[in-house]
Amino acid sequence: MTTAIIGTGGLGSAIARQLGSGGETLRLSSADRESARTLAAQLGRAAVVAVDNRDALQGADAVILALRFTALKGVIDEIADPLTGKVVVVPSNPLSLDAQGKVYRVLPEGQSSGEVVAGWLPAGARLAMAFGTMSAGLFESSSNRSPEPAVLFYATDDGRAGGEVERLIRTAGFEPVKAGGIEQSSRLEVGGDLHDLVVGAAEARSLIGGA
Ligand SMILES: NC(=O)c1ccc[n+]([C@@H]2O[C@H](COP(=O)([O-])OP(=O)(O)OC[C@H]3O[C@@H](n4cnc5c(N)ncnc54)[C@H](OP(=O)(O)O)[C@@H]3O)[C@@H](O)[C@H]2O)c1
Repeated sequence: MTTAIIGTGGLGSAIARQLGSGGETLRLSSADRESARTLAAQLGRAAVVAVDNRDALQGADAVILALRFTALKGVIDEIADPLTGKVVVVPSNPLSLDAQGKVYRVLPEGQSSGEVVAGWLPAGARLAMAFGTMSAGLFESSSNRSPEPAVLFYATDDGRAGGEVERLIRTAGFEPVKAGGIEQSSRLEVGGDLHDLVVGAAEARSLIGGA
């Protein structure tokens, strides 16, 4: 199967390494193409560098937008037509940096990134919020855990997106657990009760029920 990854920075490159080592074919795109080229060279035959963000979607079953929250809307607008009917996976936390380099939340309290991103997508795009629930380092070190795989939580309102994101999560070396619909995605974000957890499936399911 083929997945496009737009954004090959800290998190996008970690996702690409895990999916590539799980056998996924990847189409990579980044702002200046150089980081995508460097990553593709490390990944070998698993990855190709796309000409641009729209080209990354050619032949892809799903696209992961591994972008800072502030870059997301511009990229979604740029690739809107080919997103119709596609599974769109978004790991972005709604954070930015102020002039002093301090991290702040760009959305008002109570508004989740998933709900905002859903409003930016064209009709027919199938959104799942996933792969942003752990820091990139923890994500890589927790993959393919033995004997029991660690869980990656996801949130979606779309059945097909749920099936595809579960496949991707397993390919990356984790057990998928659905936290709920998109309205639950704030639980996955930085500051949410399901963020940066490394747990097995039984504990994950009890946490979901316990909210
Ligand atoms: N890093 C983590 O540990 C982590 C963990 C959980 C969630 N997340 C979330 O994941 C998202 C990405 O974080 P990150 O740390 O990977 O950020 P990052 O290192 O800054 O990477 C962002 C990537 O986006 C690319 N980009 C920017 N504008 C673009 C455009 N118009 N078209 C195509 N690509 C574009 C950049 O390209 P260039 O390389 O060419 O500049 C870069 O590859 C954030 O929303 C963050 O909240 C990150």
